[in-house]
Order: sequence, then structure tokens, then C-alpha cells
Amino acid sequence: MSETQHQPLRIVITGASDGLGYHLARNYAAHGHDVLTTGSRQINDERLYFDQAGIAYVRADQSEPQRAAGRIDEALDRLGWDRLDLVLLNAGVGWSGDPAEEKPDSVAWQVAVNLGAPVAIAHRLSSRLFAAEGKLVLIGSTAAASGNARFATYAATKAALDAFARALREEWAGRAQVLMLHPGPIRTDMHAKAGLKLGLVRRFFMTPERVARAVAMAVRKGEAKRMITRAYGWRSLLSRPREGQL
Ligand SMILES: NC(=O)c1ccc[n+]([C@@H]2O[C@H](COP(=O)([O-])OP(=O)(O)OC[C@H]3O[C@@H](n4cnc5c(N)ncnc54)[C@H](OP(=O)(O)O)[C@@H]3O)[C@@H](O)[C@H]2O)c1
Repeated sequence: MSETQHQPLRIVITGASDGLGYHLARNYAAHGHDVLTTGSRQINDERLYFDQAGIAYVRADQSEPQRAAGRIDEALDRLGWDRLDLVLLNAGVGWSGDPAEEKPDSVAWQVAVNLGAPVAIAHRLSSRLFAAEGKLVLIGSTAAASGNARFATYAATKAALDAFARALREEWAGRAQVLMLHPGPIRTDMHAKAGLKLGLVRRFFMTPERVARAVAMAVRKGEAKRMITRAYGWRSLLSRPREGQL
């Protein structure tokens, strides 16, 4: 390899079979990076599957946090990736409705997927991240701070994730960076999956493509904590990675 050629960086993105994660994975792959993605769905009979863009996928259902972390770890062993430049913990679920009517199973499910699994995966992948002095990115939500009555448990899991990020930043100081990014509303199917009918208001949400660009800009800048607003999304249109950069 010549001095001007860059080694592809190695990236893990959870929850990349749909929505924001899907666009993040495609963006990073389009810039020549190696990407391992996850989701809960079975895409193929293979344990480790590669799509046409060369993006790897492993099923890792975060409703069982330790098991999901183990499956990602095992996939990384198979790929031979002992160093990770970026781990983007993006997978998330929500339930929308009157908090008084929410079933205990729904609370436990969101806590496992949105909080328990990121904690388990972060710890499991830490040595690979330290080896590259990489970046761990946690995807939260502005709902964590805004108080959203119809997404109470969801908002609570994202607020807890923010607290986890603060603690981890101290614990990992000098070994890996920890970034906490809180997007505003995104035009994905997440709300419909959560049981919320949005109607016309959905049109005013940021597109997942724009949010993916904004997330990439925040990652490049190494922003410890950032609200991904519409204005930040616009700014990201002017920002492009240099070759070999994340
Ligand atoms: N949409 C918004 O307005 C909004 C706003 C702020 C923050 N966010 C956050 O942004 C992130 C992405 O949301 P999105 O809007 O892109 O949602 P989305 O379109 O519903 O996609 C969610 C992704 O998470 C995966 N996932 C769901 N349950 C999982 C599980 N049990 N185990 C592993 N993966 C699982 C899904 O894959 P499978 O279907 O294969 O399980 C999918 O790839 C989430 O953390 C969300 O909280 C979203």
C-alpha cells in the first residue's frame, strides 16, 4: 500500500437493518470503511452474512443483552477484527401510549434493548476499541430531556444512557472516546412500530439520510455530547470527511 492510500477503518453499527442505522452503514461503506451491522431479524441462514455492498450483518437480538454482545464479539472474531475504530450503538425501540397502561413486559423490553444491551456491548467490545483508541457513540434522543408523556419509558431509557455515557467517559479516559448524540425526530418507521400514528407532522421530521450525515460530522469532530437538531443537520451538508477519516 502506498503512503497516500488509507487502510479502511473498522466500524460496528447496531440496529442497521432499518432507519438511521441503515443509512449510517451505507454512508460509511461508501467511504471505503469496513462495516459490521446488527439487527434482531434473521436475514439469511448464514451466521455472518455479507450484502452486495460488502456490509457484514450478524443477528444480535438486544432483548437479551449479554447474548447479543456475545454474538457481536463472536462475529468480530470470525472477521479477525481485533481493533475497532468506531462502535455506533444505535439500535432502539419504543412504546407509545398512556404510561399507566404500559405492560411490565414492554418496560422490560425497552430497558433491555435501549440500555442493557448498549451497556453489555460497550463493555464486551472495549478491549478492541482501546486497541485502536477508537470512538464509542451512543444514540440517545431529545426525548430524554424534553419530557414526552406518551414515550415515558423510552425517554427514561435514553436519559439513563446519557448518564452511562458520562460515567464511561471518565472510566475510559485516555483509552477511547465516548460520544453521546441525541437526535430530534427522524422520518423513520420507528413511531409506527411504537404504535404512534403521526399523520402529516411526520413530513416535518429530519430525514434519516440527513441525520446520518449529521451523526458522521459529530463523530468526526469528536463531540462528547450533541443534540442533532435540524440546524446541525443543515451544517453537516458543508462538512465532508478527508480521505481515510471517519
Ligand atoms: N425516529 C426518531 O424520531 C428518533 C429520534 C431520536 C432518536 N432516535 C433513535 O435513533 C435510533 C434509530 O432509530 P430509527 O428511527 O432508525 O428506528 P428504526 O427505523 O425502527 O430502526 C431501528 C433499528 O434497531 C433495530 N432493532 C430493533 N429492535 C432490536 C433488537 N431487539 N435487537 C437488535 N436490534 C434491534 C432494528 O432492526 P430489526 O428490525 O432487525 O430488529 C432496526 O435496524 C434509536 O436508538 C432511536 O431511539 C430515533
